[in-house]
Amino acid sequence: MTSLKQRAGEAAAALVEPGMVVGLGTGSTAIFAARNIAERLRAGGLRDIVAIATSRATEAAARELGIFLLADDIPREIDITIDGADEVDPSLDLIKGGGGALLREKIVAQASRREVIVVDESKLSPRLGTHWALPVEVLEFGWRSQARFLQSLGAAVIPREVDGVLFRTDQGNMILDSRFGPITDPTALSAKLGARAGIVGHGLFIGIAQDLFVAGADGVRHVRREGPSA
Ligand code: 5RP
Repeated sequence: MTSLKQRAGEAAAALVEPGMVVGLGTGSTAIFAARNIAERLRAGGLRDIVAIATSRATEAAARELGIFLLADDIPREIDITIDGADEVDPSLDLIKGGGGALLREKIVAQASRREVIVVDESKLSPRLGTHWALPVEVLEFGWRSQARFLQSLGAAVIPREVDGVLFRTDQGNMILDSRFGPITDPTALSAKLGARAGIVGHGLFIGIAQDLFVAGADGVRHVRREGPSA
């Protein structure tokens, strides 16, 4: 049976046209877009695609799928990026970073003309922070100071571990999962986190997504951001 994640990923992949530079997102939804692109390349319906991966894991998957990858330094403008999200609010602002790839995902998103988000309907949220802790990527040096800073902003903070081992991002940094509860002013919080030395990235994606493909029991809905994006 086709999953909702697959439906969302494949619907968004239909936006990819011959000759495009494509950002490949990270996670169990975005991978369906990559697989669909690879299938169309194999079938000859799509050609001249070059891609940039948002994580080492996606890079490995794209290689296996036979998608041509650009070098890590993003030498060209990216036409479209298709990525997942952990929480999406009604303005198409996001929490990302469940897979720990938030920093590369944001770098690629900000270099993209069109950032397209693919989710199943469980990711929709009235207010960011309602369902998900905010991942904050920090340098190991001084990380306890960043944890105290996040606590002073109202978060319950847990250093991310996987199978009892401290998680490391592709950059070798730590993730502090910071549970704020519903965030009243994500833009103000994003600015505070962005101004703090030692915090190298965070999962608030404000004004970045232009399109959302959300799959539910009634099919896939395509929502576009209203007004200019950041
Ligand atoms: C990785 C991400 C993912 O896109 C996000 O966690 C959603 O993943 P999934 O599609 O597996 O639910 O931000 O850093």
